Amino acid sequence: MQRTRISEILRAEELGALVTVAGWIRTRRDSKGGFSFLEINDGSCLSGLQVVADQELPNYRNDVLKLQTGCSIMTTGTLVPSQGKGQKVELKADEIKVLGWADPEVYPLQKKRHSFEFLRTIAHLRPRTNTFGAVARVRNAVASAIHGFFQEKGFLYVHTPILTGSDCEGAGEMFRVTTLDPAGAPTQGGTTDYTKDFFGGPAHLTVSGQLEAEIYALAMGDVYTFGPTFRAENSNTSRHLAEFWMVEPEMAFCDLEGDVALAVEFLKYIFAYVLEHCSEDMAFFNGFIDKSVIQTLESLVSQEFTTITYTEGIKLIEKAKVKFEFPITWGSDIQSEHERYLCEKVFKGPVVLVDYPKDIKAFYMKMNEDGKTVRAMDVLVPKIGEIIGGSQREDDHDVLYSRIIDMGFNPDDYWWYLELRKFGSVPHAGFGLGFERLIQFVTGLSNIRDVIPFPRTPGNIAF
Ligand code: 4AD
Ligand code: MG
Repeated sequence: MQRTRISEILRAEELGALVTVAGWIRTRRDSKGGFSFLEINDGSCLSGLQVVADQELPNYRNDVLKLQTGCSIMTTGTLVPSQGKGQKVELKADEIKVLGWADPEVYPLQKKRHSFEFLRTIAHLRPRTNTFGAVARVRNAVASAIHGFFQEKGFLYVHTPILTGSDCEGAGEMFRVTTLDPAGAPTQGGTTDYTKDFFGGPAHLTVSGQLEAEIYALAMGDVYTFGPTFRAENSNTSRHLAEFWMVEPEMAFCDLEGDVALAVEFLKYIFAYVLEHCSEDMAFFNGFIDKSVIQTLESLVSQEFTTITYTEGIKLIEKAKVKFEFPITWGSDIQSEHERYLCEKVFKGPVVLVDYPKDIKAFYMKMNEDGKTVRAMDVLVPKIGEIIGGSQREDDHDVLYSRIIDMGFNPDDYWWYLELRKFGSVPHAGFGLGFERLIQFVTGLSNIRDVIPFPRTPGNIAF
């Protein structure tokens, strides 16, 4: 079936062209003059195409007059100037073929606003709505921009594994992968004997591709990985998923300052890319989801990002005349309410926090000379809080070894990671960007469940 996408038709506006278009009916309006207007959408862009169906069509009475929201059709006709406002062209149909009916009594997506909560229960149909179609196109554009950014800079795309034997973040939030029968798993000394399991040892879904990305950075220089990651943290918030996508660059011969600079350049590149390539969808988000989203992205492209230390950040939060849910003192984890306070109230824009206390950060971060803080950096943005987390890595074998011991881990589990510090160790750094948090920020959607096609959260694995 040869067809032309609606996006292509609206771009070319080639009056007189004979085209075939296929898509789903959004609305049908019948005119007294003996014809009907069908608005069809094929997902290629936010706009639909208006199709004019004349009563002279042989199946006008039997098919066209029965078309309802959600029906799929294929139609061939000529592009003519549109009388209506909005579009320059419409399609005067010579033929309309109904491909699939959608009974309006039961089709859940009628031409009205549905709540996002309801739409999550019909994730198989929600991409047919304006919002979820726009999210899908923006996700696609941002993914392409991410590869474009790193490829232009000469970074190598590395495919890090999803099944892993090591816990990168050491936070114990991993999903176990096993083929053992839960009812009759072999035991050894009272606990499950994973030597009998598929991989001959415990296996999990990865929480991050970083450790493996470091291996490749320490051979290839600048690399990045971009893939799904999994966290079994029981956080039912608007910014946590159990399965999310992460972009992780890793750079050899790079320190924390270089890491921060790359993160800022990267975010600006993506914001500029979306403004340029997704103007129709962004206008939609700006109109219906968040009236400030375009303005925010535009100003971030040129705005400086403030960098302050964790210690300075804590002082600002302690001085705040706001009541926080979680009290905070030096050494405690910064919660998203504090992150948002710094961005929204103090700096009115993104903030990069560096040099966090070692006890609240992962074992692999490079120790500062004060012996108390590590070379960590988090990029915080208004409304969301942390969007990027990264660090310079500990490249000294002995310091790293004692950090692993101090944190109660077994150095044997990290033998290869430690060996990278024995053989040609170099300063290196990297970060992880939460892809869905970025899409939230870019679209203005407030719930992370609405920016991924099939959200996985505690208690929810449908679709
Ligand atoms: O700060 P995190 O835990 O950093 C790492 O995993 C490092 N290994 C990255 C690196 O240095 N290569 O996670 C990175 C980002 C966070 O800033 C956040 O945007 C996102 O991943 N993220 C989540 N997004 C959605 N749902 C969750 N449960 C998330 N946990 C982290
Ligand atoms: Mg983090």
